[in-house]
Amino acid sequence: MMVRGLRLALTLLCACCLACGDSTDWASKGPTDEKYSQVELSLGEAVYSDSCSACHGQNGSGNFGPDLLGKGHKYSYEEQRSLVARGRRSMPGFGASLADAEIDAVVAYIRVGFFGESRN
Ligand code: HEC
Repeated sequence: MMVRGLRLALTLLCACCLACGDSTDWASKGPTDEKYSQVELSLGEAVYSDSCSACHGQNGSGNFGPDLLGKGHKYSYEEQRSLVARGRRSMPGFGASLADAEIDAVVAYIRVGFFGESRN
């Protein structure tokens, strides 16, 4: 009885770990099909390379911070935007240092821009 209870607890624990771990290959999902103007994407690219690339890699492949490729499929625009504005744990918030339009643009860029670049 005791043993069975323990085994059940361990099984549930493992199932939980598996469910929480993110083994999805988001990068392979590519850009979202959202459309942004070229002007916005260019601004986003500039903001990204100034403010984000040191931690997330020049092409979003990750460094100190996690990779951002294909994450537009995991998180909505609003989720990513509020994270960038407010920050989370070691991710600094940019709500005070970037203008709203710059945050809009950099979020657009990380959702679709990395992928456009690779066609050059
Ligand atoms: C000082 C290093 C640093 C800088 C600069 C930085 N980030 Fe981050 N970022 C992080 C870390 C670390 C995390 C993981 C946060 C956590 O543990 O919750 C993160 C997480 C994220 C996430 C969520 C990723 C995921 O899959 O959960 C996004 C989106 C993001 N950053 C975008 C940006 C953007 C856009 C910029 C530039 C405006 C930026 N970051 C600048 C370190 C940084």
